[in-house]
Amino acid sequence: MEKARVFSGIQPTGNIHLGNYLGAVKNWVESQDSYENIFCVVNSHAITLPQNPKILKEKTYDLCAMLLACGIDPKKSTLFIQSQIQEHTSLAWLLTCITPMGDLSRMTQFKDKSQKNPKSIFAGLFNYPNLMSADILLYKSHFVPVGEDQKQHIELARDTAIRFNRDFGETFVVPEPLIMKEGARIMGLDDPTKKMSKSSSDKPNHAISLIDTPDEIVKKIKKATTDSEGVIAFDKERAGVFNLLTIYQCFCKQDEVSIEAEFSTQGYGVLKERVAEAIIEGLRPIREAYSKLILEQDYLHKILDKGAQSAQKIATTTYAEAKAKMGLI
Ligand code: AMP
Ligand code: TRP
Repeated sequence: MEKARVFSGIQPTGNIHLGNYLGAVKNWVESQDSYENIFCVVNSHAITLPQNPKILKEKTYDLCAMLLACGIDPKKSTLFIQSQIQEHTSLAWLLTCITPMGDLSRMTQFKDKSQKNPKSIFAGLFNYPNLMSADILLYKSHFVPVGEDQKQHIELARDTAIRFNRDFGETFVVPEPLIMKEGARIMGLDDPTKKMSKSSSDKPNHAISLIDTPDEIVKKIKKATTDSEGVIAFDKERAGVFNLLTIYQCFCKQDEVSIEAEFSTQGYGVLKERVAEAIIEGLRPIREAYSKLILEQDYLHKILDKGAQSAQKIATTTYAEAKAKMGLI
């Protein structure tokens, strides 16, 4: 039987952090055998906010190396760079022409990002979800493994697929989000009421980057915001402790009851020590693999060329089909 197809993407902006890893990339890696996988570094999404071109280019390759270091296996998964396949932006245009403005203006990510960057709200940022729908629909993907913040965008991609199929004939697979029970929303260490995000990189104790050293990890976890209750339990109302326990759970893979039992007689000091230790050990192989891979640029380019070739085959066929169905010559 043919395997269902998974597609997901990640932006090459800022440094990939623990939220990206636990909410998305770790799951891509762990389910590689169950699906036919396509993973994409979405650099065309990155330019919806101003970027330094030289840094964007470097970060794009760095992120590809990091995804391999995290365990994306080129024998099991296609890995490629979005801007190398022109059909993403071409299909995005077709989808833009059938997406109501009202739907786009409801997107919370647009509202957040435009509030944070009031001086640079460009049309691309508003239209961002159509490019994301194009990414997913171009490969007729069944599942999209993401963190919780992307659920609304995937719902929009579903609506768009359904509308296109209804108006122009059956073409796209209607995709489903794959969102993990744990880790789908890792919060900022400095402020556990806000999700961990790359755009808060000006705050040094906000996020743990996948290339942070053990010392940096210990320091950041020590400074993480908790509360004054002193009880260690999975209580969503106490966001700081809940976040630390969730991170711990993602690495140690025990259930909530046994984790609460482990800490029942301990204080926040011990909790923080063990959380830091779990992160350091969990990220160690990634940091080591990354430091080697980043020096093997030829190998990296070979994998990305191969990835782009296999993506291109599917993209060409689907785009030609969609274009013809809309009456474009
Ligand atoms: P981005 O950095 O926006 O390109 O996100 C890449 C992936 O990481 C997406 O699937 C996001 O949903 C996921 N992600 C981003 N931030 C978090 C977070 N704080 N917790 C869990 N998942 C996240
Ligand atoms: N919008 C996603 C994010 O910010 C990244 C992304 C772009 C994506 N295209 C995608 C994720 C397609 C899944 C599928 O995290």
